[in-house]
Amino acid sequence: MNYLSVFLSTTAICLVSSLVWLSQSDMQAPSFAKSPKAIQEIPAWIAFGDLRGHVEPCGCDPNTDLGGVTRLAKYHQNQKKLRDKLWLFDLGNNLHESGDMNRSKFAEKTIEFMRPDASLFNLLEMKQKDLDFVFSKKRRLVLWNQKNIQSNLVKNFIDIDEHFMAIGLIQPIGKSPEFKKYLRDFTLKELKKFKKNRGKQMIGLVHGDKNWVKTLEESKLFDLIIAANQRPLGLLPDHEEKVKPGMLHVGGSVYMVPFFAQGFLLSEKISTDKKPSLEEIFEQPRQNNQSKEFDFTQPEIVEWLHKGYEDAEILKNAMSVFRGGLQKEFQNFVTKKSSKKKKGKFLGAATCEGCHQKSHNIWKNSSHAHAHKTLKDVNQHENLECLKCHVVALEDENDGFMSEALTPQFKGVQCENCHGPMMGHIQNPKDKRYHKPTEALKEVCVSCHHTPHSTEFDFEKYWKKIKHP
Ligand code: HEC
Ligand code: HEC
Ligand code: HEC
Ligand code: HEC
Repeated sequence: MNYLSVFLSTTAICLVSSLVWLSQSDMQAPSFAKSPKAIQEIPAWIAFGDLRGHVEPCGCDPNTDLGGVTRLAKYHQNQKKLRDKLWLFDLGNNLHESGDMNRSKFAEKTIEFMRPDASLFNLLEMKQKDLDFVFSKKRRLVLWNQKNIQSNLVKNFIDIDEHFMAIGLIQPIGKSPEFKKYLRDFTLKELKKFKKNRGKQMIGLVHGDKNWVKTLEESKLFDLIIAANQRPLGLLPDHEEKVKPGMLHVGGSVYMVPFFAQGFLLSEKISTDKKPSLEEIFEQPRQNNQSKEFDFTQPEIVEWLHKGYEDAEILKNAMSVFRGGLQKEFQNFVTKKSSKKKKGKFLGAATCEGCHQKSHNIWKNSSHAHAHKTLKDVNQHENLECLKCHVVALEDENDGFMSEALTPQFKGVQCENCHGPMMGHIQNPKDKRYHKPTEALKEVCVSCHHTPHSTEFDFEKYWKKIKHP
């Protein structure tokens, strides 16, 4: 079995990243004995990844309103105007996992527009069924370290300029520890040779766990390592997982891109003749407290591309294609669902009012009751991705919300989002099957209240606000 098929069949180790920007300003290039050229300073750079088709922030939670591709593209465009040199690195995992082409295409468009200096080609991209889609764009892909992966499509490295090359490094994967060790040692040995032969400073774009990143850092072969954060492919963020508000400078030459994140750092390398206007500088200079320790627990915090950065103008066309795609998706959904025979398991909150007046009143005044209006206010009420948490039973094929016009009784988050479909209950209120245990009801909250939509969620605190005896 060659390693490519090992990759394709392994889902356990997929390392994901997110969006981030950095500069080099206070980064020191380590000295290495045999480099024929003078050590060059690394220019300002921005790194991103793990977009997963994430077009815009949803707006559910200010903590995670950190950007989106459109903001990133605009920011990058602005920064490029201000600098002689600005590198852009793409850590991959940018297409939508489920193969949603509308989202994936938007991500691709943005990436194409930004033209990264190097893109790490990784598992998610390999898994795209429509590989032409990935490869057809002129992306400069890097992937190294698995000697058996040899394809004309995959370049091992990229010469960023006359002094630097970028190289992609995915953690060695294999069944036995011996095999993994062999791959690791082989990789390091080859890297050393490679570096010596080419006489360039090296930038690693890395997917892998802590040990893998540490191994690379300790090899002292790299001037800069940009590592993707790790999370198994397809795993939703845990509701316990708080978003770390920053790009992590892990220590030494290692930087790590956090989840769902769009942060940046200002480089001091702005040439005087291109002094930025105030509008152009919305960022704050980075704190200069760089630690040289290699320490995953002491990340350096940076600024995010928060709401103040909003500007999607430059991707207007791509955006309108994307919106058209969403509209089509929604129409297809309504046509399909309305053609199905209706089951009538869900009743809507109005039905409960007569017998549970007190509960109903409390609910009616809670923000759950207005969750559909919330979408409407931001013109996202025909976006299926948003609707699934803001209405009743969107995803039930024969029941629940279809559209505001067809099913107004299912707008917003209602009793039945938490208590389940209640037809059986009103037929026989004594039937205990519909009286769910408290624990099960608590559990239900986090199906919606999870990162990145609700990072502050805490059952005790939140329940107090909607308690309805
Ligand atoms: C996984 C479920 C989920 C999805 C998907 C989701 N939301 Fe939300 N949304 C929530 C939750 C939960 C909250 C409440 C967060 C809190 O207060 O902790 C919320 C809150 C909001 C708010 C803030 C309401 C207020 O009063 O401040 C807006 C706006 C919003 N969502 C818009 C959207 C849009 C637009 C989309 C789609 C792009 C979307 N949501 C998708 C779960 C979701
Ligand atoms: C015809 C009146 C009636 C309607 C309509 C009705 N219920 Fe009830 N419900 C009852 C009665 C009576 C009980 C108490 C049964 C018992 O304690 O044995 C009850 C119990 C419950 C309980 C369990 C309370 C507990 O202490 O465990 C929940 C939850 C509930 N109803 C939710 C709903 C929801 C949601 C709706 C609307 C979809 C609804 N009910 C509609 C009469 C009704
Ligand atoms: C079907 C998805 C869904 C479920 C399940 C859900 N929520 Fe929500 N919740 C939302 C959405 C969406 C909002 C934002 C509503 C808005 O403002 O438009 C929200 C808002 C809230 C708010 C208001 C937050 C604030 O600060 O104003 C509280 C409190 C809350 N939910 C508590 C809970 C609790 C407790 C549970 C579980 C018992 C729960 N929710 C289950 C989707 C859900
Ligand atoms: C966001 C989730 C959520 C929504 C929306 C919701 N409930 Fe509940 N409900 C709960 C939870 C959780 C409990 C159990 C609390 C406990 O056991 O401490 C509960 C308890 C109840 C009880 C039992 C109260 C008691 O103490 O006996 C009734 C009755 C009830 N809900 C009716 C309703 C009705 C009617 C609606 C809509 C008008 C509604 N609920 C909306 C989550 C929800």
